[in-house]
Formats: sequence, C-alpha cells, structure tokens
Amino acid sequence: MARTFTLQVNGAARTVTVEPDTPLIYVLRNQLELSGPRLGCGVSQCGACAVLVDGREARACTTPVSRVTGKKIHTIEGLPGLWAGRSGQSPTGATTTLHPIQQAWIDVQVPQCGYCQSGMMIAAADLLARNPNPSVAQIRDHFTSAPPSPHLCRCGSYVAIIDAVQQAARAMAV
Ligand code: FES
Ligand code: FES
Repeated sequence: MARTFTLQVNGAARTVTVEPDTPLIYVLRNQLELSGPRLGCGVSQCGACAVLVDGREARACTTPVSRVTGKKIHTIEGLPGLWAGRSGQSPTGATTTLHPIQQAWIDVQVPQCGYCQSGMMIAAADLLARNPNPSVAQIRDHFTSAPPSPHLCRCGSYVAIIDAVQQAARAMAV
C-alpha cells in the first residue's frame, strides 16, 4: 500500500506518496523530475543511477525509498549546492557555480554519449570526500573495483575520468 515519505533531496524536503519498496531512482526521476540519475542495468551492476546518501554513493536502482527517509540524498543536480555549502559560498553561489567535479568534467571533456557520467561524477564526489588527493591507482580502483560493482562506461571514458578527478582534487584543495 502506498505511504507518504518525506525525503531530504538536494537540501530540500520533498514529500512523495509511493509504495515503500519503490526504487529510489523511480521516485527521483518520476515523482521529483530529477533526470540526472540514469537507469541502466537496474541491478546495482553499472553505476549509472548513483546518488549520494549521507555523503556515500548508493545505487538508486536497488535502494527502496523507505530506506532513505531521514537521510540526506544528493543527485548530480545537487552537487553545486553541496559545494556552495562546503566552500562557504552564499546560497546564490549554488545557482551560479558548478561543483569543481562538474567543471573538471567539462574542462577535460569527459563525456562521450554521457549516459554513465552523472554516476561517474557522484562516484568522484564520494571518493574526494574521503580521499582529497587520491593517486591514479586509487582513482582507478575506486571506479573499477569498489563494491557493489565497477562503474561501467561503454564509451571508454576512463582515462579522461582519471584526469578530471585529479583536476577536481586540485580545485577543491584551494
Ligand atoms: S542502474 Fe543502478 S547500478 Fe545500474
Ligand atoms: S560516456 Fe557513454 S557510456 Fe560512458
């Protein structure tokens, strides 16, 4: 039976009425109209749907909405606000300044088809929050070996991702 849930999404309280086992990705995309997280495999094996839940990457395709009430959810759309808060910008800053990870992805021209890339940037945010200066080996490991699965890119953007993560790390350090 459908229930009403209040979620903290990208810094705002959002209320939805859905079945408790509804995957978070459907709530984000269909109820809240946040199209950043993408549905790929649907079984936690590709990373396209990744979001941050209390600062850690979670796969929205296999996360029931009932499991994330009371937690802070950030999608790719919320990264500017996350950075504005961390870097002490005014609330206006979040509307005019991209997160350094997003800017690095543009500067390095990482995306090709782009389908996987919001999940890739979420994975980068997860990594840099815990390791502000990762080595190439640590970046490679984070994207290809960390559970629950590698982040898959059928376009082969992995080399550019390493460059972009290193650029973002430098920008976030100043
Ligand atoms: S769609 Fe969620 S991991 Fe692939
Ligand atoms: S950029 Fe096309 S799947 Fe990654």
